[in-house]
Formats: sequence, structure tokens, C-alpha cells
Amino acid sequence: MNVLILGSGGREHTLAWKILQSPHCSSLFVGPGNAGTAAIANNVSLSLSDFNQIGDFCIKQSIEMLIVGPEAPLVDGIYDHFKTTDQLKNIKVIGPSKQGAILEGSKAYAKKFMFKNDIPTAGYAEFTKDTLEEGIAYIHNQKGPIVLKCDGLAAGKGVVILEDKDQAAQELSDMLNGKFGGAGHTVVIEDFLSGIEFSVFVLTDGKNYKILPVAKDYKRIGEGDTGLNTGGMGAVSPPPFVDKDLMTKVISRIVEPTVQGLQDDHIEYKGIIFIGLIKVNGDPYVIEYNCRLGDPETEVVLPRLDSDLLELFQSLHTDSLATHEITINPQAAATIMLVSGGYPEAYEKGKSMTIPHETPSQFFHAGTIHKGEEVVTNGGRVLAITSMHTDFRKAIEQSMKEAEKISFEGKNYRKDIGFDL
Ligand code: AMP
Ligand code: GLY
Repeated sequence: MNVLILGSGGREHTLAWKILQSPHCSSLFVGPGNAGTAAIANNVSLSLSDFNQIGDFCIKQSIEMLIVGPEAPLVDGIYDHFKTTDQLKNIKVIGPSKQGAILEGSKAYAKKFMFKNDIPTAGYAEFTKDTLEEGIAYIHNQKGPIVLKCDGLAAGKGVVILEDKDQAAQELSDMLNGKFGGAGHTVVIEDFLSGIEFSVFVLTDGKNYKILPVAKDYKRIGEGDTGLNTGGMGAVSPPPFVDKDLMTKVISRIVEPTVQGLQDDHIEYKGIIFIGLIKVNGDPYVIEYNCRLGDPETEVVLPRLDSDLLELFQSLHTDSLATHEITINPQAAATIMLVSGGYPEAYEKGKSMTIPHETPSQFFHAGTIHKGEEVVTNGGRVLAITSMHTDFRKAIEQSMKEAEKISFEGKNYRKDIGFDL
């Protein structure tokens, strides 16, 4: 089978590495990819927003499966574009329909979906420019920190949590007045939940589901979970606090009603539901839904998946997911993300990298590109180092050792991944 993966991050390098382990994969393309995917597959220059260009490439290369890495093309309807175009409709697209991707594309829609299906999540209210005054009054009646969320996609920056109510009222006004463009036309204000977060990845065909390894990521730039939010500075799988009892609750209270809710609403969904969860007094609550795999969670989730991922993806389109077993490696996996100096604020690209050829870990490239023979940095998050061990702390230690051996100007990484576990 000829496969195209869309995207260019650590998630997509990991997907490529995993898909290539399947005997069913004959050729693999990654668009646009990075220096890591170039070393194992064929990179192709594609724009994630140009569905005609992607479709033409798929026809030319007889692509049979399209795996969509990031959320934007899904929220923009790439699944529906393929389904409704004659020459593309038989290509197996891995990802939800546009209607399914709204679970990530609109926080207000996701909240309504959860309330309708009795799925535990923080209480909330939503406001627009017309109801700004009510929003400000609502903030002043809230107890605890104020959680403000832009309704639409805002590149991971659309959630602001403020202790001070006047500051929160100002932020609400700024959001509704275009601070995040159209993404902030509606703002959701949520009750603040206090607890430890984790991520559950559900593979579904819209009716049946299988649970992939559970992970925890570290979003803040600074040690001890301080400073600005990033795309993710590291991850561990499985997080030791996610025990059987908690997972039983996650499945019965959250996963099953979510899949049932999609079915009740006749929503086509052949891909991943990434559920961001928080454990509060022993009970799970949904913080957010995403319609794709997480990054850097993928860098610890897929190395622990022993099953053939291409077969699992294929089964979503042949109504046979239920007949497949998910085999999970009992070893723990940890990943540490090397980032560019200055990230997540302004940073420079194009720094030469030295990467050892031999390593006991897996290097998954994120923001890297070839410049002639050389590999240079090409993004904020540069490279993820994944290690596996029966003891997750030993896996982290090994990744730390490897992190020292990779060099590029401005290299930064958190040395406390897993500190709270
Ligand atoms: P989201 O983009 O919805 O995942 O939010 C980004 C981050 O904000 C989450 O990972 C949490 O750390 C935090 N957050 C979101 N919603 C809440 C909430 N209701 N209570 C506390 N923290 C939250
Ligand atoms: N690591 C969080 C995300 O992918 O959204």
C-alpha cells in the first residue's frame, strides 16, 4: 500500500517510523516532512491547506491511505474533500470528517457535546461581543482562577488562566475584540479544575474503539511547570498515577459516551480522538478534545504499540476494528524535546546540528531540514529523544544523556520531565 502522511513534526516522523514497520507499506511519502522523515521516506513539498495539490499528488502516486497529522486540514474538511471527489473517494483518510473535527475546532461545540452526553467536564458559559457586559459580570461572580478559552483554533495560545478578575475581564474584552482573530469571536469561560493532567488516545471508526497507550505531556517551557505554554517539552507513557480504577472510569464515563455521542449525531469519524483529561479527587474530567494524535505524546505512545498500526488504520475503513487486538509493550517510554533558544517566543532557525549516528534511543525529528549535506534547525521544537525502560525514570535518564550529545546553538530542554510522577 502507498501511504502519504501529512505534517512535518515529531509526531509525523514517529508515524512514518511506525508505518514503515508494517509489511503492508510499499511506499511512504511525507508532506512536507523534515530531515528525519527524509532519511526514512520520501519527502514531498505539499501545502497542508491546498487540498487540490494534495489530491493531485495522491492520484499521481496511487496513494491508498492518507494519514493526517495536524488538526488544521481536518478542521478545514480534508476528509470531506476526499470523500466527495470522484478520483479520491476510495483513498482511506485517517482522521475525522469536518463535523467530527469540530470537537477540536470549537471549544463551545465541544462543551455542548459533553453536556448533552453527560460527560464530566468543568462548568462553563460562553460569550460573544454582544454579551461582553454579561461576561464581565460572570467573571466577577466566579470563585478561583478564571479560565478563558477562545472558541476556535489559536495555535495552542487560545487558553488564558488569570487569578485577577479585572485582568480576566480585560482579557475577555481583548479576545472578543480580535486578539486571536476570528478564533475569539466566541469565548468560553470555564470553572477552574485543580489536579494532574493526562492524555488518552482513542482509535475509532465512529462505532467501535480501541485505547492506545496513555501518556502525560509537559507543556510549560520552564522546569517545575513554569513559564509560557509550548507545544510540549516532553512526555511519559504510561503515567504511573493512571491506574486501572481511573481507566475504568475514563472508559465508562468518557470514552464510551463520546463514541456513542458521535454515533447518535451521525458523525463520520475514522481516526484518533485525543482526550485531554484531568484527575480531580480520583475522578476524570475532560479538559479538551483533539481530533488527532498529540505531539510529543505520539513519540511515547507509538513506540509502546506493538500492533501493526497500518493494519489498525486500515480496519477503520473495513469495519473490522473490533477484530483487532491492541498489543502494548509493558516497558515505559519517555521523550525529551530539544528546542531552539528563545522558544516559545521569537527564535532563530538555520542552526547547524550535530547528531550522533549511534544511539540506544530513538531520535524523532521535529523542526529540522537539510541544507545541502547538513541538518539545520527549522522550528521551535527541534528533536525529540525517546527512550524505553521498565522503569520510566531510567528511560528519562537515558534520554538526558543523549540530549547532551546533540549540539546546536541555543539548544534548550527541560531537565525535569517526569518530576511530578
Ligand atoms: P486546552 O487548550 O483546553 O487543553 O487548555 C490548555 C491548558 O490549560 C490545559 O492543558 C490545562 O493545563 C489548562 N486548563 C484548561 N482548562 C482548564 C480548567 N478548566 N481548569 C484548569 N486548567 C485548565
Ligand atoms: N501535546 C499537546 C498537543 O499535541 O496538543
